[in-house]
Amino acid sequence: LVAGVDTSTQSCKIVVRDAETGRLVRSGSAKHPDGTEIDPRHWWDAFDAAARDAGGLDDVAALAVGGQQHGLVALDAQGRVVRDALLWNDTRSAAAAADLVRELGDGDADAGAQAWADAVGSVLVASLTVTKLRWLRDAEPENAARVAAVALPHDWLTWRIAGYGPEGSSPLGPQLDALVTDRSDASGTGYYDAQGADGAGEYRRDLLRLALGRDDVVLPRVLGPAEAGGRAHPSVAGADVDGGALLGPGAGDNAGASLGLGMQTGDIAISLGTSGVVSAVAPTRTADGSGAINGFADATGNALMLAVTLNAARVLDAARAVLDVDVDELARLALEAPAGSDGLVLVPYLEGERTPNRPDATGTLHGIRLATSTRAHLARAHVEGMLCGLADGLDALRAQGVPVERVMLIGGAAQSPAVQQVATQVFGLPIGIPAPGEYVADGAARQAAWVLAAASAPGADAPSWSTTIARTLDADPRPVVREQYAAVRDLV
Ligand code: XUL
Repeated sequence: LVAGVDTSTQSCKIVVRDAETGRLVRSGSAKHPDGTEIDPRHWWDAFDAAARDAGGLDDVAALAVGGQQHGLVALDAQGRVVRDALLWNDTRSAAAAADLVRELGDGDADAGAQAWADAVGSVLVASLTVTKLRWLRDAEPENAARVAAVALPHDWLTWRIAGYGPEGSSPLGPQLDALVTDRSDASGTGYYDAQGADGAGEYRRDLLRLALGRDDVVLPRVLGPAEAGGRAHPSVAGADVDGGALLGPGAGDNAGASLGLGMQTGDIAISLGTSGVVSAVAPTRTADGSGAINGFADATGNALMLAVTLNAARVLDAARAVLDVDVDELARLALEAPAGSDGLVLVPYLEGERTPNRPDATGTLHGIRLATSTRAHLARAHVEGMLCGLADGLDALRAQGVPVERVMLIGGAAQSPAVQQVATQVFGLPIGIPAPGEYVADGAARQAAWVLAAASAPGADAPSWSTTIARTLDADPRPVVREQYAAVRDLV
């Protein structure tokens, strides 16, 4: 048996699967406080509770952790967190990001943006770890001075599972050089180049120094896709297994989901959660100086090209609040109105936008006439607006030369029949609806099985099992929807 863990912004989820067949054996989950900064102890407590909810992990032979990307977990020399972790959705470092972009461009923001994209695959926005280090240096110099190691959420949890941690609250103590990470999560820090050093990947300590003013900190060792990073402490997992549970390298959540879904070239995953993520696997990353596309690494040795929009499921939440309806009723209403909603267009930048980069934008509702002043038109305009925002991200991927053949629709809002049908029209592509699952935890479990196989047969391929596509809807292109959206978007 193998275990996959997803330490996410809101909760911890664990799946236990058969390593050979991928069959789901049992699962567990536990919520923890969310927000934009959090004491990592809550992740540990939620992992502990989720493991108990899953009936314990004594019988698993390998375990891997996927997790929210980018969060800054700064540790002192005693292995204690220096302050609460600053997460991917914390925007206090927006000015620091702009400063770092200008500085790398010697005062020229456009040149700086391209220089960051060339160096690490992404133009800096507040989400990326390196900007949080600059913020720490400027806003909390005493904390910055105490930083001895910098980890990401999944690195930190893996380290704790291996038995390390602060003196007194961990069996093995604060061994900072036992920290490990993987290429995918490292590629979201802003100081790791997954394609540097002849493709092997390398830390850019010069960029870390630019942000923090020094680079004498421990960074987690970056493991290859199927490389084990030690073993779980038997008090946590693998107590009944010869040698204890092997620990996989883990992954950032988007890379974990792409591994769980078994994405191939031409597949696009569109995730409709709090934020919207459009991602694709490609052999190598490009360097998009416009900032629309992040050139991260995936969990298999390829690149993960990814656009993030800030306005996804929350757009439907806003529609439900205005119309005072539940999820099912919103879908029913939206499907009553015709494609294009008779010209009623919502540009859904409800809380600013990241792709395109318009942090101060607001939403716009355009084309209100007596004939479009119905609940059905309003519902449809929200569904279409949300999906058109993501279609812009899809175009940005195409512009980077990424092949686009099929969309896999995932995330909470993807279950809505209205979202599924409108997606066939807005994207004009076949839409695959994967079987329900915890794709990030499933990807971590698949990685754990891969690590287990590679331990006895070096060079083994990833296991053949992955999430199946439960249903595919045919493409039904309705260009008018995007045309009228583009006309309004370009006005705002
Ligand atoms: C990716 C990003 C989010 C987080 C969510 O750049 O910021 O998708 O990974 O956990």
